[in-house]
Amino acid sequence: MEVIIQRDEHSAAWLVARVIARELRANPRLVLGLATGKTMEVVYRHLVHLHHEQGLDFSRCHTFNLDEYVALGPDDPNSYRYYMNHHLFRHVNVDRNKTHLPDGLARDLDAQCRQYEALIEKAGGIDLQLLGIGRTGHIGFNEPLSAFKSRTRVKALAPATLEQNGGHFGGPEKMPRRAITMGVETILDSRRIILLAAGKNKADVVAKAIEGPLTSMISASSLQMHPRCSVVLDEAAAGKLTQKEYYRWIFANEPAWKEFQDNSREEAPSDDGSLPRYKVKTLKR
Ligand code: F6R
Repeated sequence: MEVIIQRDEHSAAWLVARVIARELRANPRLVLGLATGKTMEVVYRHLVHLHHEQGLDFSRCHTFNLDEYVALGPDDPNSYRYYMNHHLFRHVNVDRNKTHLPDGLARDLDAQCRQYEALIEKAGGIDLQLLGIGRTGHIGFNEPLSAFKSRTRVKALAPATLEQNGGHFGGPEKMPRRAITMGVETILDSRRIILLAAGKNKADVVAKAIEGPLTSMISASSLQMHPRCSVVLDEAAAGKLTQKEYYRWIFANEPAWKEFQDNSREEAPSDDGSLPRYKVKTLKR
């Protein structure tokens, strides 16, 4: 695992967007694992910018999202399909047929989970998986005590997650209680992983995941077992780490990160909290 600390949320998200862009340019058929949530919104704004300003091409890539709420359909503004369309897909030239999320409306949820695993396998596995981390230490919706060997399945959401996301629904009591999520092992099967976390309310759980013991109580601690995982943090989210100087030293001395060491705010598109105002392109198929 590598830990990269950037001065603020904006720079951290910009670095992640640049890594995704580099991978996509190197392999236009990249199979990209995507996450939702507040932290990812900034990354997606940067990807939209890179598409419009530098021609970043999404037309041949495949995407697989980590999770979807049970019983929410694509037209529900709280569904993750809606989120992805809104924040990324409608602004770039991705082929919607190549974008995948679990179907929260499926009649047979277990069959849907098996089908999702099969789709990922058919696409050749995930090349680069993007992750956030929840207050419970979850990745995807792998809540505490998710087995490290778990695959895509239906998972009940922890009370802390209902608190974390309840605001979007007008209160935790109005939220779906379950979601379909890739399992911990499904995530660990990805060839490369980047976890992004920002803000001081993530500092405790980030320190537990990175410097604490492997434990299914904190699903993100399983990432310590992954051979190619980078954790990108802002200073606030890194606040409780004890080995920050060591992580900075590695980042400064690792040739693979050379081109990202200059990651500066000036280079990033301005971020006033709103989506860039680009015309939505129609897809050519
Ligand atoms: C969402 C997901 C979650 C979030 C996590 C952090 O697809 O998989 O694990 O990444 O809950 O969410 P935010 O960024 O809203 O704090």
